[in-house]
Amino acid sequence: MSDNVKRRDFLGYSFATVAAVGGAASLVAMKQTWDPLPSVLAAGFTEVDLANAKPGTPSTVTWRGKPIFILKKTEAMEQSGRDLVIGSDRFTIVIGLCTHLGCIPAWKETMWKCACHGGEFNASGVNTFGPPPRPLDIPPFSVKGTVIVLGEEGPEYKQMAQA
Ligand code: FES
Repeated sequence: MSDNVKRRDFLGYSFATVAAVGGAASLVAMKQTWDPLPSVLAAGFTEVDLANAKPGTPSTVTWRGKPIFILKKTEAMEQSGRDLVIGSDRFTIVIGLCTHLGCIPAWKETMWKCACHGGEFNASGVNTFGPPPRPLDIPPFSVKGTVIVLGEEGPEYKQMAQA
């Protein structure tokens, strides 16, 4: 065997090795591109513990960039098929974007009022005045004890969404 043939073999093996390493690196890079970013995965679900909610004072949490209003109802507030019932407590859980043109309504003692065009929603999130065409939307959620997991469709959500 001549030196020339050995050199050609060596070059062939070297090229094959470089091509294999490059191919493997490309596959790893492609998989990383397809996989959702950790921040996207983490943003999908938001857990909120309702145990310490104060009756009559809604709180706002952010889920997937949207404000979510959570209100523990007082005895005086009307009951609704849209209520989440946990034990003897009733909660309103709605996306805080006006169903007219998407402004964020503000809580005024017993209802949410939208400053943009005067729309009003009662404590259940139902439109009662002005241009909003429908109640505030209910975000998908599931319930684990006193904790709700926003972004997960549990049976309670499915029932409320039909009410
Ligand atoms: S956006 Fe709320 S009433 Fe128009």
